Amino acid sequence: MLNTKTEEEIELLRLNNDLVSRTLAEVGKIIRPGVTTKELDRRAEEFIRDNGAKPGFLGYSGYPATLCTSVNDSVVHGIPSSYVLREGDIVSVDCGTYLHGFYGDSAFTFAVGEIKPELQRLLNVTRECLVKGVEAAVEGQRVGDISYAVQTHAEINGYSVVRELVGHGLGRDMHEKPEVPNYGARGRGPKLGSGLVICIEPMINMGTRHVYQENDGWTIRTQDGKPSAHFELAVVVRKGKAETLSTFSYIDEVLRRS
Ligand code: MF3
Ligand code: CO
Repeated sequence: MLNTKTEEEIELLRLNNDLVSRTLAEVGKIIRPGVTTKELDRRAEEFIRDNGAKPGFLGYSGYPATLCTSVNDSVVHGIPSSYVLREGDIVSVDCGTYLHGFYGDSAFTFAVGEIKPELQRLLNVTRECLVKGVEAAVEGQRVGDISYAVQTHAEINGYSVVRELVGHGLGRDMHEKPEVPNYGARGRGPKLGSGLVICIEPMINMGTRHVYQENDGWTIRTQDGKPSAHFELAVVVRKGKAETLSTFSYIDEVLRRS
């Protein structure tokens, strides 16, 4: 059985993941052609510190920034830089916080200006994969039920699932047990108990599932150079239906107004 959280611990995880959700929306407000990924990172760090928290990724295993900003064929762990976002790009923004001894961790892939319909479809399906995963994260099910739900939805839509990187438990450490792969078999893996907090984070590719790591030691890219999308939420396993600790509702509100 996996380590589940008390309601007091869950409250602190809720504070963190709400702050991550609001930070992603702040970043979403300034995403447009012409902005650099470094500018997104500065805005996120400022907002997190203004809210009394610390960036969760900065210094984690030596990571040098507040956000991971992963553009187009970059899957995850892109380091913010002088790269200028262009009309038609997609950018995964992954954000972590650290507050009251716990972590927050969530990600959203944004469109930069107008994007091709085929890219919008990749974003939609990847977000749907995450929803399917969350729907499977209920007490009594197993990790493999989440994995299977995500993988099936990606593959029936003609996409592939990255295997080298996985979701994870979340708590006083950013990466706790269990690993939550985005591929797998129903009924396999550790059993999900009420109060288990996990991050589900499908990384879905338009072409090959195979990836490589850049020489910077972080950036993960698709081997064929085709685009990849990434969405991540933190949830608590409950009886009947998972409770989400992070949310895209602040982002959706920002995108509706723009
Ligand atoms: N959201 C990423 C994850 O789930 C964060 C890793 S970036 C790091 O693993 F710099 F913090 F490692
Ligand atoms: Co994560």
